[in-house]
Amino acid sequence: MTPPACGGVGVGCTKIEEYHYILKRRLDNAFERRQILSIFINSMKYHPFLRAIHWLMFILFTILFVLGATMIEFKECEPWARYNFHKSTGVLVLLLVFLRLLIRSRTSIPRPLTTPVLLQRVARIVMLLMYTLMILVPISGYALSNVHGYGVKFYGLPLPNLFPTHVAWETFSSAIHFYLAYLFLICIAIHIVGIIWHHVRGRELLRRMS
Ligand code: HEM
Repeated sequence: MTPPACGGVGVGCTKIEEYHYILKRRLDNAFERRQILSIFINSMKYHPFLRAIHWLMFILFTILFVLGATMIEFKECEPWARYNFHKSTGVLVLLLVFLRLLIRSRTSIPRPLTTPVLLQRVARIVMLLMYTLMILVPISGYALSNVHGYGVKFYGLPLPNLFPTHVAWETFSSAIHFYLAYLFLICIAIHIVGIIWHHVRGRELLRRMS
C-alpha cells in the first residue's frame, strides 16, 4: 500500500490522517488475508474439469459394471443392444481417461495428506493401478471383441478392428478382460474405503473432489 500523501505516520501527518492511514491498512490486510485464504482453499481442490470427469466416470463405470454383469442374460431376447452400449461406453471411458490425464498433467493437484508414509504409498499405488486399469480394461474389452470376430461401434459409428480374430485366444481374451475388470473393482473398493476412513477422522478429502 502507498504511504499517506502527508508524508507518513509520525512524520508530518495530522492525527486524523494517521487514523485514516492505519484504518485503510487494516482493511487492506483483511482483504489480502481473504485473498490468500481463498487461493489456499482453491489450491486444495482438483481442477473443475477433473472433478466433473471424476464423477462422470464414476457413473459410467457403474453402468459398465451393471451391464457387464447382466447383459449375458439378455443376449437371447435382445440381441447385442446391451453389448453395443457396454462397448461404446467402454470406448468413451478410454477417451475420457486420456483427457483426464492430459488435464491432470497441466493443472495443479492437491498435496497428499500428511498421513504416515506407508499409507501415502498405498494410496499412490492404488491410484496408479486405477489409472492403469482404466486404460487396460477398455483395451482388453476391445481386443476380446475383435478376437471373437466382432467389431466395435462407438454409439453406432463403426471402429476399425485393431486385433486379429483368433479362435484359440477366445477363452484367454475373455479371462483377461474379466480378471482386469474385477481387479479394478477391488481397487475402487479400497479407494472408497480409504476416502471414508479419512472422512471419519475429520479429514475432508471429499471437498477436494466436489
Ligand atoms: C468408479 C469409481 C471411482 C474411480 C475409478 C475413482 C478414481 C479416482 C482417482 C484415479 C483419483 C485420483 C485423482 C488424481 O489424483 O488424479 C480419485 C480421487 C478421489 N476420489 Fe475417486 N474414484 C471413484 C469413486 C469415488 C467415490 C465413490 C468417491 C467418494 C466416496 C471418491 C472420492 C474421491 C476423492 C475425495 C478423491 C481425492 C483424493 C485426494 O485428494 O487424495 N471416488 N478417484
